[in-house]
Order: sequence, then C-alpha cells, then structure tokens
Amino acid sequence: MEAVILHGGQGTRLRPLTHTGPKQLIKVAGKPVSQWVLEQIRDAGIKDVITILGDNNPTRVVEYYGDGSRFNVSIRYVYQGKARGLADAIYRVKDLVSDRFIVYLGDNIVPYDLSKFSNFHGSASILLAKVDNPQRFGVAIIKDEKVVKLIEKPKERISDLALVGVYGFTREIFEVIENLKPSWRGELEITDAIQGLIDKGRGVEYQIVDGWWKDTGTPKDILEANYFLLDKHTVRRIEGEVKDSTIDGRVVIERGASIINSIIRGPVYIGVGSKVVNSYIGPFTSIGDNCIIENSEIENSVLLDNVTVKGVSLMDSLIGNNSRVEKGNKWQKLIVGENSTVII
Ligand code: DAU
Repeated sequence: MEAVILHGGQGTRLRPLTHTGPKQLIKVAGKPVSQWVLEQIRDAGIKDVITILGDNNPTRVVEYYGDGSRFNVSIRYVYQGKARGLADAIYRVKDLVSDRFIVYLGDNIVPYDLSKFSNFHGSASILLAKVDNPQRFGVAIIKDEKVVKLIEKPKERISDLALVGVYGFTREIFEVIENLKPSWRGELEITDAIQGLIDKGRGVEYQIVDGWWKDTGTPKDILEANYFLLDKHTVRRIEGEVKDSTIDGRVVIERGASIINSIIRGPVYIGVGSKVVNSYIGPFTSIGDNCIIENSEIENSVLLDNVTVKGVSLMDSLIGNNSRVEKGNKWQKLIVGENSTVII
C-alpha cells in the first residue's frame, strides 16, 4: 500500500508566509506540517510514499525530503503544477499505485491510526468529523450508517460531518475521475469523485474521528496545531547550552541553541542554533532555527526560522522566516507584507 501526500494548492489564506514556499512546509512544533504527516504514515508501517508537487516553489519540498531515506521511507515525486483540484492531483499517481492506497492532504493533521486503512472493504474509505463551520469543507450525509451523499463546500447546512483530509482508495477512483467535470470553483473535486463511486453503487466506508484534528489553512489554525502537537509530543530534551536560566517542564532545546539568563516554561520547542537572552519563553511556543530573542517575552506563538525579536512581548503570534520584530522609540517602524495583522 502506498501513501500519497499532497503538497500543491495555493495557500492563499496563509500569505505572506506562503509567498516563498508551500504551506505544507510551515513548521509547527519544530517540524513542517507535512513531516508530521510523513512520520505518522511511516509509523503506521507504510514506507512507499508519493509526494505530489504544486507550482509554489516545489523544489523546496524535494530539497527537504529528498529520497525519503532520512525519514526511513522511500519517496517518489509527481508534478501537478497548477492546483486543478484534489481529484486532478490524485489522478496523477494512476501508474504508480497498487490496488489500495491512502491519500493524505499535506496541510492536515489527523491523529488517527492509519493502519486501519490497510483492510477497508469498500471502494473508498473516508474519515469524518463534526465541525462548527461545515461550509468550509466537504460534508457527508449519513443514513442508516451508510454514506448517501457528499457535497463540497455546501452553501446550506445539510450536515455538520466534514470530510477530514485522509482517504483510502482502490484503483476504481481513477475511472470516476476520468469522467469528472470541474466544480463551480473550477476544480476537479475528490468529493465529487467519491460521490461518483456512490452513484455507481460502490460502497464507501466511513469512520468518525472524535478527537482533535486540523486543516492548517489559516494562521489561527497553525497556532492551534502548534499547541496540540507541542502538548502531545514534547519530551524534555536539552542538547543546547543553558546558562543562568530556569528550564521548566517539557522543553526541547536543540543542539547549538543557547539560553542565557532566561526562563523557559514548557511545552516549548527551541530550534537549532537559536539564541535566547534575558527573556521569558512561555508555554506552547515554538522557535525555529537560528532565531535571536533578546529582552522579550513570548507565549503561545510560532516563530519560523531566522527570526529576530528584541524588546517586545508577543502572544498568539506567528512570525515568518527571516523577519524582525523590535521595539522602537515613540514611532513604530513597520514593513508589513500583504494580508498581515499587526496589533501594537
Ligand atoms: O481539510 C479537509 C478539506 O480539504 C475537505 O473537507 C474538503 O472536502 C477538501 O476538498 C479539502 O478542502 P480545501 O478547500 O481545504 O482544500 P485545499 O484547497 O486547501 O487543498 C487541500 C490540500 O491539497 C492542500 O494541502 C493543498 C493540496 N492541493 C490542493 C489542490 C486544490 C493539491 O496538492 N493540489 C490541488 O490541486
């Protein structure tokens, strides 16, 4: 069984963070979202991975994951380019997969035992979860424990059971995709393709996920995913240098990082080569690689790589690669990218 991880799409709601790379590579709790996905797939015993690349700096994905050996899997790449829909992306693995395969959207985090997909009986298997905002998802109508209808981004509230971004398929899906028409948003929808299986009388199995899961489409989602992953996975590990500081609870300090005259209260992740001086880093904060934090307080935030923060207090913040946040004098000096939020 192969697992297909999608790395395409536009990432519009995460701009400007996605101007330089795909959203699936945004790091939460110390790893790109899609690395959490890859490791979950590997830990379920699936070693054959196919990654679908989009047109937003796809080489960054290949550079990061390579042939997969660093992660104990084998990765093949398929280029989709422009985002023409999930069904269009999936069709591109037609010649690479065997009878059954899993598809995992690379921007979703779904803590679910994927080995359960290895023996599903129908033509497809989907995961569903109750959501408050079904209009943002594909939804399923269930009658007598059967999936009877699937609708992508419903305008009316016909069901609050959303399709979660992990699917099990048999090769039958390819036939349906061959006859699929683009939706109102101009995409070949996988939701419509699964509906096509139902219309042909094929069985579509479902499971309900009743714990936490996330589609990391917005900055708020990234912070929530960071909170969840730090809470669930952080095990205290201190490889960097610690001087005149208090390190409290479940904290990871990677090699080459240094913490000087500071307080760190876990769960916290501090990346390779980062420097924290005269500062407080509070729970649910992830700091990327090679960051500099001085005379600051930070809580419940995500700083990506090469970020400098000096003399400020940050909470619920998401700071992109190579950014600086510094206290000025009376006047604030800002260079703010498109669609950004600044609260001073
Ligand atoms: O998150 C779950 C939802 O994901 C489902 O409930 C929906 O039924 C499903 O259509 C999808 O909806 P989104 O509108 O959130 O999909 P999005 O455009 O964000 O794409 C999902 C992932 O697939 C993301 O990692 C980008 C990637 N992608 C997307 C498209 C459209 C591709 O690789 N190629 C594509 O053409």
